[in-house]
Amino acid sequence: MSVTTDSIVEKRLLVTGAAGFIGANFCHYWLQQHPRATLIALDALTYAGNRHNLEGLEQHSGFRFVQGDINDALLVERVMTDHHLNVIVHFAAESHVDRSIHDPDAFIQTNILGTHNLLRIARAVWLDGPQGWIPHRFHHISTDEVYGTLGPQDPAFHEETPYAPNSPYAASKAGADHLVRAYRHTYGLSTTTSNCSNNYGPYHFPEKLIPLIIVNILHNKPLPIYGDGRQIRDWLYVEDHCRGIATILEQGREGESYNIGGCNEWANIDIVRLIGEIMDELFAEDPRWLQAFPHSAAAQGRKSADLIQHVRDRPGHDRRYAIDATKITRELGFKPAVDFPTGIRQTIRWYLEHPQWWQKIMDGSYREWLDVQYGALKA
Ligand code: NAD
Ligand code: DAU
Repeated sequence: MSVTTDSIVEKRLLVTGAAGFIGANFCHYWLQQHPRATLIALDALTYAGNRHNLEGLEQHSGFRFVQGDINDALLVERVMTDHHLNVIVHFAAESHVDRSIHDPDAFIQTNILGTHNLLRIARAVWLDGPQGWIPHRFHHISTDEVYGTLGPQDPAFHEETPYAPNSPYAASKAGADHLVRAYRHTYGLSTTTSNCSNNYGPYHFPEKLIPLIIVNILHNKPLPIYGDGRQIRDWLYVEDHCRGIATILEQGREGESYNIGGCNEWANIDIVRLIGEIMDELFAEDPRWLQAFPHSAAAQGRKSADLIQHVRDRPGHDRRYAIDATKITRELGFKPAVDFPTGIRQTIRWYLEHPQWWQKIMDGSYREWLDVQYGALKA
């Protein structure tokens, strides 16, 4: 018989990777919905983790931040038992495909070994602890990239699409998905998995396409388009992803995987042009932005799209992703609520209104890393 997490009287969450892009958005979302909930945010604060992403959450009495690695078994077990946690929402990962191509080791360490460490501890605490089996749920956040790539006419990825990961990142996420499945099948751990398409929104680290383009326009820097720019991604506003995860935590059937997507396919070059147009419009409408961003394309008298530069393609670049989200809609009644024109404008505004957030990142060693990458791509 399938069970839902309804059998857990009070959900007490461990959120891993909580200081990253989606993890942080999820913590804000969950505590907005459940202001008195227990939520322990665990994050190693790698280059992608940012303590500022969780600002404001200390007002919730059940919120704690713990800096630590998911590979640190003693720490994770102590956090789980000290706070009597019964749900893990596992976001922590190395998440950038380009980095996985240059240096895959960290991806194996965190995405595969780290996930395995969490599963081992979950089994020890929830199945084999002093009280024997206790109600619990391990929710694993995965990606549509495990399914590989689609041709232009192929049907979208559904939950039964065979796995065919192409990058070291995608392979490491596929490995983690299989471990989650195996822990359920072998030991009876209560699990769910969600495979989501590309997210966008606040706190998105500016190595990923959408925030990189916004921030580069604000610096009058080239907008790098890999190859012909006709690769397609299915974009979903991050808050919709968080709501989808919450829906699975509340109603999802134990042992199931759910695809979450935006039904919103865009070629990269079109999305970059659209961001450029919106930013040019915003700067034309409100001269305050020209003063706030004197180095921006608009302040330098240029159209944002003039900054587009085609660069060397990503090795093994997946051509198209698209998600068939029929299952989560049919079974759990979940649908994205934020349409793309609204979400992308909201996102651009967030970056305009929070320069202190991304300037800290761009002033540090990350900017140097980015410039080296860009130099190599142009060559
Ligand atoms: P992110 O890179 O912004 O955040 C990852 C977080 O994990 C960071 O805060 C980092 O410090 C933390 N972390 C990394 N290694 C850790 C470790 N060993 N121990 C503890 N914390 C560690 O990533 P994101 O975009 O927020 O993605 C979150 C999850 O969602 C990932 O599992 C990713 O595979 C998945 N996902 C992302 C997208 C997307 O579009 N961004 C889409 C589908 C699925
Ligand atoms: O599909 C879900 C995945 O989406 C997540 O699992 C990953 O964690 C997340 O990083 C994202 O992967 P992508 O590789 O699709 O995202 P990224 O933003 O890196 O790139 C989006 C597309 O834009 C991709 O086709 C590569 C292209 N691109 C990216 C960058 C950074 C460019 O053309 N130029 C760029 O500078």
